[in-house]
Parts: sequence; structure tokens; C-alpha cells
Amino acid sequence: MDAAPFLPEGGEPVLSVPGDKSISHRALMFLAVSAAGGRIDGLLESADCLATLQALRTLGAEIRALGHGAYQVSGGGLRNPSTPLDLGNSGTGLRLLAGLLAGQGIAAVLDGDASLRGRPMGRIVTPLRTMGAVIEDSEGCPPLRLHGGGRLQGIDYTLPVASAQVKSAILLAGLNADGDTVVREQAPSRDHTERMLAGLGADIEFGEGRVRLRPGALRGGDVAVPGDLSSAAFFLAAAAASPGRRLCLRAVGINPSRDGILRLLRRMGAAIRLENERLAGGEPVADIHVLGSRLSGIQVGAEDVALAIDEIPALMIAATAAQGETVIRGAEELRVKESDRITALCEGLQGLGCAVEEWPDGLRLSGPPRHGARIDSHGDHRIAMSFALLAGQLPDGQSIIIEDVDNVSTSFPNFVEKADQIGVRIKEL
Ligand code: S3P
Repeated sequence: MDAAPFLPEGGEPVLSVPGDKSISHRALMFLAVSAAGGRIDGLLESADCLATLQALRTLGAEIRALGHGAYQVSGGGLRNPSTPLDLGNSGTGLRLLAGLLAGQGIAAVLDGDASLRGRPMGRIVTPLRTMGAVIEDSEGCPPLRLHGGGRLQGIDYTLPVASAQVKSAILLAGLNADGDTVVREQAPSRDHTERMLAGLGADIEFGEGRVRLRPGALRGGDVAVPGDLSSAAFFLAAAAASPGRRLCLRAVGINPSRDGILRLLRRMGAAIRLENERLAGGEPVADIHVLGSRLSGIQVGAEDVALAIDEIPALMIAATAAQGETVIRGAEELRVKESDRITALCEGLQGLGCAVEEWPDGLRLSGPPRHGARIDSHGDHRIAMSFALLAGQLPDGQSIIIEDVDNVSTSFPNFVEKADQIGVRIKEL
């Protein structure tokens, strides 16, 4: 992949990004186990969400494509699958489905690609076992074999890591358990599960670091999926780092448990304005306007990282353009994402001639890229997209070639086309 600089001058290009990945996974799963099902509009039709959709069909769910990202999910529950479920590259798909299926007493094998087979599952297996689930793992990683059968017990559980996936797996298991389930978090994580469960009729209370769920059937209902802030983040950061350039990202989710990237870019000096703020299906949504400015480096701590966990790679686009150094700390969770994102970022930035230092829990970056390079994305969609837009910071005539980019389709299938719409030319080699 090769990118050249960047965004047309003047005017305000408007871009829409595909549907939110976290919300898309949840809509498919929750409606499949609801009584009446419902319609989803704006589903992200990416490899990750389609893997979840396919897994649910294998589990007996009826899901009908209506065209243009609309789907009708019939509801009514799931049955034991006759084949293993392949969740591809998707940690969200596998972890949430494990909790949901454990709660439904389904016997199944959940598996994924080489990256997913290396990701830690102890964080969900431990609480699910405490609830009574019988699960075999492979040295703490997938494949997971759920034995199914008996009913689970509700649990009162304090999350050892800030993780919406773990919180969600436990809550989904609790839907059908004996007794209430309480999850406590020491640092906030995205609350899409809580909001959607409430919207579909669950008996749930949440706020101030605590969620309580009383078991009961989900009624069902319709879900409108907003644009994905994590996908918007690449373009936001690139525009923010480009003084005088404007960009509007239309109808993007701005859930406050997820909007850390907006706060971090503003702290760097970016001019970001929200317009047309509204609630859509229980989720806050807005048009995000950004005007590129001179940015300054910032200190990012654990409390910031939790609210921008997927956007730290995109933040590097802005950090390479900023005056002074940017320091990221308390970000060790980035080491167990689709790749070890701290190492992947440091290697790539070093290759571009940036001054960068790697720590176990973060990195320090100062200075712009000095030259082009060939970069290994480690098969990680967010690393690939970040470096593609980071090419806008290169000296004239230089380019970045990014290897192993197929997984961009796990979250943003039309990334190249969207980039092209705002003047970022990416050549597929
Ligand atoms: C997600 C939660 C986050 C995030 C992931 C999506 C979700 O993971 O990194 O991309 O949809 O719940 P953790 O909960 O493991 O931090």
C-alpha cells in the first residue's frame, strides 16, 4: 500500500464512515437470542461482523439481508452447532459469543485465525467458570470448547482489566443465570452492551463503575448503528494534523465511554466541533467537524488510554505532526490486541526515522517521519490504516509501503475508497 499527501485545500469535504463494529456485533448477537428479533440498519459489513453473523447462522439464527446494511434478525434463540464456530480475527466476536452461549447452555467450539488463537481468554474463562460454565481452552487461548448444559449462577465480579469485552461476556452469560449478575469496573470501558440490553428490554441498571443485570428474556427491537468513531479516527487525526484543512465526518457515534480520541486531539490543540448532536437507538451521535491546526505533543495516561483503547495507533498520525514529544503510558493492553500494537507502532515509526522509545506500557515519540519506508502492519487493520494516513506527514516525494494489509477489511472494507474521496491516494500493490 502506498499513500501520497493529502486532503484538498479549501471547502469542507464530508465523509461518512461505515457502521460501528462494537455495536454491529452486539446487535446481531442480542437480537438472535431475543424473543421477537428486530431490524438492524447500518450494520458494518466487515469480515469481523460477517464472521459473527455466520457463526449465529450456524447456531440456527435466521438473519436476512435486506440490502444496504439492513438486516432482519428473527430471534427465538440458538441451538448447538454441528461444526466449530470460526470468529476469524475478532476478539469481540469470540469473547461476547462465549459469554452468550455459556449462558444459553449451548455446547460449541469457538475458534479463530492465528492472531485470535494468540489472544488471552483467561479473562473471560475465569469468571464464566465461576458462574458454573464448563470450558476448555488451549493454554488460555482459543479454541474454546464450551460443554453446555447446566444453568449458570449470577456473579458479583470486579474486572481486573478495563475491558468491555469481558464485562459484556459476563453480562450476556448473566441474562439466563440464576440470580443477579453485578460487574464492577475500576476504569470505564465502552457501555454499548448496557445501552443496547436496556433498549431491548433487559432489566439492567448501570453507571458509576457498576452494572447490575437481573436475568430475563430480551424483548427485541430495532437497532440503528452509528458510524464508527474508531474508523473516523484515522481521518480525524490526519485532518487535525494538517493546518488549514477541514473535514466533516457525518453521523459518527460519540459515546462518552469511547470518545477519548476527541479529547486527546483537542488536548493537542485540534479544533474539533460537534454539530447535530442527537441520540440514535440509545447511542449519542454527531457530525464531527475538524479544522487542522498546529498541534503540540501530550502526555497520555492509563485513564486516557481506557477511553481511546483502539485509537492510540490513529493518535500517532497527529503525534508525528506535533511540536514536542507525545508520551503514552499505562497502555499495556495494546500488547494483546490484533497485534502487539506498541511494538508494531514503534517498529514502524522507527523505520520512518521518527525518534521513538518503546516501554513495556507505552512509548515516547518526538519528531516527524524523515523518510518513507516499508512497514509491517503485523496483519493488524488499525496499524495498517494508521500508517497509510501517516504518509501525509512525509517529506515530498516519499511514500510508505505497508505489508500484510488484508485485515483492513475486518473493520473498514472500503477504507481505500473513503480515503480517495478526500484526496488521499492509496495504491494497492
Ligand atoms: C471492544 C472492546 C475493546 C476494543 C475492541 C472492541 C468491544 O476491547 O479494543 O476493539 O466491542 O467490546 P477490550 O474490551 O478487550 O478492551
